[in-house]
Amino acid sequence: VPLHLPWIDAINRLKRERGAKIMAHSYQSPEIFHGVADVTGDSLALAQAAADCDADLIVLCGVHFMAESAKILAPGKTVLIPDLEAGCSLASSITADDVRALRVQHPGVPVVSYVNTSAAVKAESDACCTSANAVQVVDAVATEFGMGKVIFLPDRYLGAWVATQTDVELVLWHGQCEVHEKFTAMEARHTRERFDAKIVAHPECPPEVLAEADFVGSTSAMGQWLAKEKPQRVAMITECSMADNLRDRFPQVEFIKPCNLCPHMKRITLQNIHACLRDLKHEVHVPEDVAVRARRALERMLAVGR
Ligand code: 13P
Ligand code: SF4
Repeated sequence: VPLHLPWIDAINRLKRERGAKIMAHSYQSPEIFHGVADVTGDSLALAQAAADCDADLIVLCGVHFMAESAKILAPGKTVLIPDLEAGCSLASSITADDVRALRVQHPGVPVVSYVNTSAAVKAESDACCTSANAVQVVDAVATEFGMGKVIFLPDRYLGAWVATQTDVELVLWHGQCEVHEKFTAMEARHTRERFDAKIVAHPECPPEVLAEADFVGSTSAMGQWLAKEKPQRVAMITECSMADNLRDRFPQVEFIKPCNLCPHMKRITLQNIHACLRDLKHEVHVPEDVAVRARRALERMLAVGR
């Protein structure tokens, strides 16, 4: 941490001078999450914060689709991302053409897309969701469209988990999160037995991992579960920084870390946040015709809430 302090001070100074708000996803490194962020949370919380933001300049410390969502929901603001290459294996698993082809194959069936998609894919969707509200959004869209079936994309594991929580029939895509797909059931079982730990898993994990979990939930739901259950020891089957960032809130809990880092999230560093604020780069743009349609899908999600 001492090594980080000069960078943290410099960023916080520049941030004040620029009147900027820094928003950081829970998968950002602790020095960013605790040191410089004004708003922290899961992708739903960041989307809500962008929609309500009173600053003219937003620095999104997360991956590209999150910065695009912020720009779509706050079109009058300047949205910067410290590294334009911060992508996501889910977002790159599907294109707008793929969604149009799915609609041809399943006429009249509404499309719910995870926010982990490009703006162009969101623009082809009826509603977006995050892992925090996927079940609620699927149910709401099915009711609104009077259909017992919904196309849910692009994460096949999140989709398979949502399918266990709803009566709506889901048509799935084959996207996977390159971080969560790596966890194995054996690793989860071993962690529980060896450390006598509770297992909490993100629904982007494969079904056999979720079957080993004491609790399956989104980034925000994991925090709520910890606050309620107060386990002595817990293993967070999700991105590595989650446990680091939760540690402060739950000093009585011992975190066992079966750790997978998201290489895209980790492209964001104190150094490139500083350069981002200093040089006002890299600005995220979404073409207006795409933004208008994507905004409708995102706003339908925000109307459902958590
Ligand atoms: P949320 O739980 O914030 O939706 O995020 C999961 C994820 O993998 C984000 O990239
Ligand atoms: Fe995408 Fe997975 Fe990284 Fe989240 S953790 S940004 S879903 S690759």
